[in-house]
Amino acid sequence: MTQTWQLSNPTLNGNARGRLEAELDRTEEREVEAQLHLRLIRELDDVALRQVEPAQRREMVERAVRTIAAEQFPALVGDMKEEAIAHVVDEVVGLGPIEPLLRDPTVSEVMVNGPADVYYERDGIIHESSVEFADEAHVHRIIDRIVNSIGRHVDEASPMVDARLPDGSRVNVIIPPLAARSPVITIRKFRLDRLTLEDLVSTNSMTDDMAELLSGCVRAKLNIVVSGGTGSGKTTLLNALSAAIAHTERIVTIEDPLELKLQQRHVIPLEARPPSLEGRGEVTQRDLVRNALRMRPDRILVGEVRGAEAFDMLQAMNTGHEGSLTTVHANTPRDALGRIEQMVLMAGFDLPIAAIREQIGSALHVIVQLARLSDGTRRVVNVTEVAGLEGHLVTLQDIFVFRQSGIDAEGKVLGELRATGIRPAFTDRLRAFGINLGEDVFNTSRWA
Ligand SMILES: Nc1ncnc2c1ncn2[C@@H]1O[C@H](COP(=O)(O)OP(=O)(O)O)[C@@H](O)[C@H]1O
Ligand SMILES: [Mg+2]
Repeated sequence: MTQTWQLSNPTLNGNARGRLEAELDRTEEREVEAQLHLRLIRELDDVALRQVEPAQRREMVERAVRTIAAEQFPALVGDMKEEAIAHVVDEVVGLGPIEPLLRDPTVSEVMVNGPADVYYERDGIIHESSVEFADEAHVHRIIDRIVNSIGRHVDEASPMVDARLPDGSRVNVIIPPLAARSPVITIRKFRLDRLTLEDLVSTNSMTDDMAELLSGCVRAKLNIVVSGGTGSGKTTLLNALSAAIAHTERIVTIEDPLELKLQQRHVIPLEARPPSLEGRGEVTQRDLVRNALRMRPDRILVGEVRGAEAFDMLQAMNTGHEGSLTTVHANTPRDALGRIEQMVLMAGFDLPIAAIREQIGSALHVIVQLARLSDGTRRVVNVTEVAGLEGHLVTLQDIFVFRQSGIDAEGKVLGELRATGIRPAFTDRLRAFGINLGEDVFNTSRWA
């Protein structure tokens, strides 16, 4: 089992020989791991294992693997032994080969495009990983582990599934024939260390003036929409902004799926539910918004508006439920308004466009636009006031704007975030709430 491989072919040049040796090492390693795994499965008491806490499960399995390795593979030593043990443990109690990426706190996203095609994101940049699955069936086994744990399954009839890992990470799975080449897994990792507004300032995502202004807007119960593309940091900013909500308020959050981690105690998280396999029992975000209105909320937070709930949110905001926070998938503040308008239209209410715009114009106060720039950094690129209506058009007024001026030799985006010089109309409201911003916050000469 653990003999060393000898290469006897003298015609191989050094490089090819190195590659071949590495390949053989790898094959041998896999062989050892497969054997270890097999014996472990034979010896492990499955029932006992299921009864222990997840954290202890790992320890228990590791102890068992070590015993088997020591007894049955005495020649297995050093790094190779440690690696083999870690791989087997990951296979039994974790998500197999991608487990090290999931444990790495600097990795934010893990993407399995195929058995030997795994990518991850770190600091906003995608990297190719050396991690490999044995074959497609192996990817399928890991998928089953993910979705079975939440009582769902993936097959021909339901080839796309959203799931959540026990740690809160979001998973999307899509399998062939929809995914043409291989089953695909996309994991958005859950960050334990939720970024705060101060963190966002220190990483240059926004200036401290902006952080002060935005948290004032939250305290003054303005209705705020955070807009941005996928992964631009919308949920992160919403979560950071929520910290400015008073602990005395009753907060109802509506999400699909749950992601927010509010620090207040008086929070009621609601989560939408997809239909069952028979197509029954669906509970939409809209249903939840309507229910939330009957729960005496001081604040309603909707993680991301995507559909008909936009209509109910606007209505609620216009009838005294202020201080709502939500996010929308859009590329500019103007686009965000267009998306919301579309959502209301698609909800099938027979409302004239003018009436919808009127609702939007009077309900919303601030749009914060985020972008993920080419160097992977996330930035606030606009803080925009919804100033009102002019005819049938909602008027927008930028208060802060990020202007990109170029890209340096290392690919870093250069630019500046500055005030436009416009003092928003809502400063009166901030003052009424006792929030007095410095005189020069809106002054164009203040740069970041
Ligand atoms: N300002 C930021 N600086 C660094 N990382 C960020 C920032 N905002 C978000 N992230 C990270 O980017 C990823 C996507 O963020 P998320 O808020 O979920 O985006 P969205 O909701 O727009 O899809 C997460 O891993 C998050 O921790
Ligand atoms: Mg999000």
